[in-house]
Formats: sequence, C-alpha cells, structure tokens
Amino acid sequence: MNKRKVFEQRLKDLKEKEELAVQKQHLKLKLTARERLNILFDEGSFFELNTFIEPAKAIKKTQNSFGDGVVVGRGLIQGRSVFAYAQDFTVMGGSLGYAHGMKIAKVQEMALKFGAPCVGLIDSGGARIQEGINSLSAYARIFKNNVRSSGIIPQISVILGPAAGGAVYSPAITDFIIMTNDTSYMFVTGPDVVKEVLNQDITMDDLGGGNVHAEKSGVAHFVFEDEEHAILQVRKLLSYIPLNNFDPLPISYDVEFNQERQDYLNNIVPDDPNRPYDMKEIINILIDSNTFLEVHEKYAQNIIVGFGRLDGKTIGIVANQPKVMAGTLDNNASIKGARFVRFCDSFNIPLLVLEDVPGFMPGEEQEHTGIIRNGAKLLYAFCESTVPRITIITRKAYGGAFVVMNSLGIGGDFNFAWPTAEIAVMGPAGAIKIVNRAELAAAEDKAALEKELIEKYKDEIANPFKAEELGMIDDVIKPSETRQVLITAFDILSNKQYSQPERKHGNIPL
Ligand code: HXC
Repeated sequence: MNKRKVFEQRLKDLKEKEELAVQKQHLKLKLTARERLNILFDEGSFFELNTFIEPAKAIKKTQNSFGDGVVVGRGLIQGRSVFAYAQDFTVMGGSLGYAHGMKIAKVQEMALKFGAPCVGLIDSGGARIQEGINSLSAYARIFKNNVRSSGIIPQISVILGPAAGGAVYSPAITDFIIMTNDTSYMFVTGPDVVKEVLNQDITMDDLGGGNVHAEKSGVAHFVFEDEEHAILQVRKLLSYIPLNNFDPLPISYDVEFNQERQDYLNNIVPDDPNRPYDMKEIINILIDSNTFLEVHEKYAQNIIVGFGRLDGKTIGIVANQPKVMAGTLDNNASIKGARFVRFCDSFNIPLLVLEDVPGFMPGEEQEHTGIIRNGAKLLYAFCESTVPRITIITRKAYGGAFVVMNSLGIGGDFNFAWPTAEIAVMGPAGAIKIVNRAELAAAEDKAALEKELIEKYKDEIANPFKAEELGMIDDVIKPSETRQVLITAFDILSNKQYSQPERKHGNIPL
C-alpha cells in the first residue's frame, strides 16, 4: 500500500472507532462531550482551545486520542462569556491524565483572569491509572484553582457520569452541583471498596446516585431526569447571577407579577398557630411571576433557599417552611441556609428572609450531631454578610432562631412583621410553664388557667406591636402590601455601603 492509501485507511479506522465510541455512550443514555457543549452554549459560540494536545507518551503509543479526553474553551450563554470543560468518556473513560488536567487548569485560570464563570461537565473514571502521580498532581492544581476562584467567579459542576475517589472534591468545592437521576454518581469509595471494608452490598445508585445526593447528603443542589435538562439548568442559573464578584447583577426588563393574589396574603397564615401553610406560595406571590429558582429543593425541606426576581432584579431568598417539621432549624437546614447566604453575599445578591420559625430543633440526636456548631454556621453567615438584607416575619419568631434569621441585631437592614407575627423569647406554651409554674401547680382547673395565660402572653408579650414599640422591628405591615414595601426597601438599600473590618479571613465554625 502506498503512503496515501495507508493514511486513508487509518482515517477510516479512526472514524469507525469514534462512531462506535459515540454509539456506546448513547446506549448508556449519555451524550458526548461536544453534544453537551452544544446544549450549554449559544449556537455556534464555542471557541475551542488545545484541540490537538497530545497525551502523555506512554498513552500515545496505545491510544488514538487528540485532545486527551477533554474538550475545553469559551462560549456564550445568553450572550455572556463563560468558560467550560467537558470530559469525554469515550477516550479512556474520561480519565484525567496530565495533559487533560492541564487543559482544565488552563480554562479555570482563564476564567478567573477574565472574570467569567467556569462550568465543568464531568464524566470521568478519575485519575488516569497509567499516568500515576502525574494525574494526581493535575488534580491538585485543579483543586487549588477551584479554591482560588471561589467567591470571585461562579463555578458550576454538572455530573454526567462517574465522579469517583478524590475526583469528587473539585465539584465539591464549586458553588453548585447538578446531577442526573440514573446516569451520574459521586462517591469517595465505590461499592467494591464498601464490600471489602464493611462487607456491605450496595449499588452505585444507592451509594451515590443523583437522588441520594439531592435528598440525603445535600451534595447535589439540583437533580434532573436527563442530561439535557441538567445542562440547561446551568443556563437558567447563570441568568440570575453576575459573571464575577464585581459584575453588576443581571436585570430582567420583562416584569410580571400577580396583583390579584396580593390580597390573598392577608388570609394565608392560619388562625391556629399549629396549622401549617406553604411558604412557597408566599414566595411565588411576592416575587415576579415564575421567577423562583429553588436550590436544594429536595434537601432539608424545613428551610427553603433559592433565587428569584423582584421588579426584575435578582434576590436570594431564605425562608422557613412551616409545612415541614414546623419550620424548625435543624443541622441540615442550618448548613443549607448558611451556604446559600454565603454564596449570595460573595456575589452581591441581596437577601430576602421570610421567617416563621419556632426555634432550633431540640433533642439528643440533634445535639449530638452538632446543632450548636451547625446552627452557628447560619448565624455566622448572616452576621458576616454585607449585602442588603430584609426580613419579613410572617408568624413565629422565637428565641435564638429569631435572632439568627437576619434580625436587626445581627445586621439585618430592615425587619418587618405581619400582624400575625409572634415574636418572643419562647413560644407561649413553654413560656407560661416556666414563668407561671407555681400558679399552675396550685390551680384547680389547670387547663383553663393555661389557656388564659397563653392568651395573655400572646397579647402582652409575643405580639408584633410590642416588638415594634421596643424597636426590635421596623414596622408592622399589611401582608398585601409586602411586595411594594420590599421593592421600596431594596431600592433604599441599593447603595448600601457596609464592609467587614480588614482581616485575612474569618473562622466560620465549620
Ligand atoms: C484509565 C480508565 C480509568 C482510569 C476507566 N478507564 N477508568 N483508564 N484510568 N481511572 C478506561 C477503561 O479501562 C476502559 O478502557 C474505558 O475507560 C471505559 O471504562 P469501562 O470500565 O469499560 O466503563 P464502565 O463499565 O462504564 O465503568 C466506568 C467506571 C470504571 C465505573 C468509571 O471504569 C472504573 O471503576 N474505573 C476506575 C475508577 C477509579 O477507581 N478511578 C480512580 C479513582 S481515584 P477501554 O480501553 O477498555 O475502553 C482518583 C484519585 C483522584 O481519581 C485523586 C485526587 C486527589
């Protein structure tokens, strides 16, 4: 065969191999790296870098691999600049060799230098075994870049296949993790090691599938049925957040809201303080229509966090959910809330807090798993944040939880209460048992006295007008006027100038 024919034959072999690899990927209900990037970016906007980089010499002998198993570059999302890398599982299982790792490090470093978000589409068997510690050192550089970029540019990881071993730690450092239900999984050690060390049988899905991380561990912020929706979520998420910590917030000029439903807010809180209601309904009525983007929807549902738009401007929302565990703050809710508050503060996103919280969750289990340490995270996060912060107290605001949920005392800029608010050191039932112990012990009709004392406590102590008299809140407002009050109050705060004292960094109770 002459040289040309050899060359043509090789090209044909390569094409067949590539087609086979793509088919294998599709059979697993997974897309290829380039197909994924096409969904992520505005059409035709992807500018690829290092397309033909060579893999390490030892690998080159056995594999046909330009680009070393990862596609990297810059594209546009709604016309805004975003860097990305997409691992290619069809090349050595997307494993991370040295050249592969350096390509990722390069886009991370460019994203940081040019002030644009960095998105990772992850589908990888982890460190490339044949390249030994060279691949580990590449991981090390990626982790360092993740931390260096934290709080300066948004970082988002979409897990679209395996992420195992130390490889989970790059996504874990980023701001948001998005997973798919059945085709992605994350774990530090896989089912084989679990069997060997603990003699337990567990599937990959049960150990680290998308649902497990969205509901139980809280590792995943979002989970979707398929890859397309998972990737599109990046576009949606970025529409709320700035490109970097100096970039202004994106504004939507297409503002719609439900004027008719504002009146419904006057009746939404039930008369019986023990009856639940859905705080998400209040959120959706207050903010611009259809703009609520909930984060961690399935995890620690006793607190709600997410982004929304108010009069076209992005806000971060943190709200107690009376429908789940009466909205009490437990370990998971505190951690979830704290992380969200810190994200918003890093990127100058104003915070709205909707409060109905009977307190921190009592009990041995919570105490022994660190409610002191974890509750302190939420407290710390609010105290250190310098963005505009407004609280609306819809019902209960008791004890430490009242203080933690962005009270004026810890630097909240405005606290407003609805007439249904109950603000005090503790709930009436608990309070009268302590303050009126002797009286109750001596009473003939204990139940009647209890009822009477509870009513008295509510009227004289736990009422919002009392809190206003004492200067603990700024005003009692009509629920139906809340949206307008919020728009005005955030407008007043739009030029807020407040910063923490200079220091290397604080020591959040991790
Ligand atoms: C080199 C790898 C690889 C790896 C997969 N491949 N993982 N090559 N290094 N880490 C190759 C396979 O040899 C195979 O090549 C191709 O990718 C596809 O893999 P399959 O096993 O056929 O695919 P599948 O059945 O879907 O299984 C995927 C998998 C499995 C679950 C990811 O491949 C696996 O368990 N890989 C090892 C995972 C792991 O332990 N990695 C190290 C983690 S430690 P051929 O040529 O046959 O197509 C780590 C340290 C990071 O990452 C430390 C940072 C601090």
